[in-house]
Amino acid sequence: MKRATTLLLFMLFSRFFAFSQQPAPALVYTLPDVLLMNNGTKVTAPAQWDKRRQEILGFYTKQMYGQMPPKPQNMVFKVVEQSKTALNGKATRKQVIVYFNGKTNGPQMTILIYLPNKVKHPRVILGLNFYGNQTIVADSAVLIDTAWVDTRPKGMVNYHATAASRGVNTGPWAVDKIIDRGYALATIYDGDIDPDFKGGFSRGVRALYPELQGIGDNFSTVGAWAWGLSRAMDYFETDKDINAKQVAVFGHSRLGKAALWAGATDTRFALVISNESGKGGASLFARQSGEALRHLTGGFPNWFCANFRQYNDKEASLPFDQHFLLSLIAPRPLYVASAVEDKNSDPDGEFQSAKACSVVYQLLGKKGLPADSIPPLSHPVMGQVAYHIRPGKHDVTDYDWEQYLDFADHFFKAK
Ligand code: GCU
Repeated sequence: MKRATTLLLFMLFSRFFAFSQQPAPALVYTLPDVLLMNNGTKVTAPAQWDKRRQEILGFYTKQMYGQMPPKPQNMVFKVVEQSKTALNGKATRKQVIVYFNGKTNGPQMTILIYLPNKVKHPRVILGLNFYGNQTIVADSAVLIDTAWVDTRPKGMVNYHATAASRGVNTGPWAVDKIIDRGYALATIYDGDIDPDFKGGFSRGVRALYPELQGIGDNFSTVGAWAWGLSRAMDYFETDKDINAKQVAVFGHSRLGKAALWAGATDTRFALVISNESGKGGASLFARQSGEALRHLTGGFPNWFCANFRQYNDKEASLPFDQHFLLSLIAPRPLYVASAVEDKNSDPDGEFQSAKACSVVYQLLGKKGLPADSIPPLSHPVMGQVAYHIRPGKHDVTDYDWEQYLDFADHFFKAK
């Protein structure tokens, strides 16, 4: 158990020299080997990786995020609004409705896009939002979402958004910064794709695929959100104003879980950003620190497929851990970020996972995460895999965005 002992010592060491975090249990764990094929052979050459990658995709599809349908054949995109004078004249705003089955009364999502006027053919940051496009920006031309919505934020009445919800959640969205740095921002309300409550099934896109329900590897909510991100990518590929080859998919918390799964399943996403995606996202289960698997499957039964529940209280028996998920993004650039007070996500688990997926980046000729131990607060480490931990709570801050934009500049400009 030489490896396990080294891991234990490493964890204790990083505890002492890092910063004031609640001590994680000094659990001895051995991570499953991401390069070990199901038949016991070790992947040693890049040419063998695709086969292993398919096995890992198979684990996640069967056991955790569930199946996803293919791109719908009858899908229709409709640009319903456009203005070149958005955000005080510095951006062009487009609002695009995606009719998933081509029917205007069927499931649909609205993509809000701001394109910087000073850049032709800009790169894009794409991310889902929690409460409706109109909440992320103070812009009276943004269409007010009509889908079911959580009533916690201001301006939501009877599970529907009103005009009073405009701009109530601008904090996590550094819209000006993103545009000023020359990126387009595209966002979609997650509830357009699949409303985030157990009974939300009939109101979202999953209802179009009844054959993918009632099975162990059912189409799940996280699966649907990731699938919706891919449908936005389908649209970008048709829009000549957008650089669809350089789209970064971003997500915070549960939407970070979805961004990772989208990046894992759809290699058209050129860069992936996980902001405090926590358990079920970037963070390792094996450490058994932070949110328990049982809490995920019990508190949010729609997020994952039914098969995932068999691992309640049995984290150690998972045939994979979340560094497998991150490895599916290799060799594309990946940023994993934590916040020190976000104990639920287990920042150490996010860091160790980013570190552990690095063997796949190395196999594919890229530098993984260039850090042996968790860096001090606000000291980002950037290889092809990047990581930072900042002070504060579970949130998306301007500091986070600055690091993501620097990271994206580095990789996109290098092309
Ligand atoms: C809950 C949940 C987390 C999730 C978070 C969020 O806290 O336990 O897994 O990431 O919600 O999405 O805000």
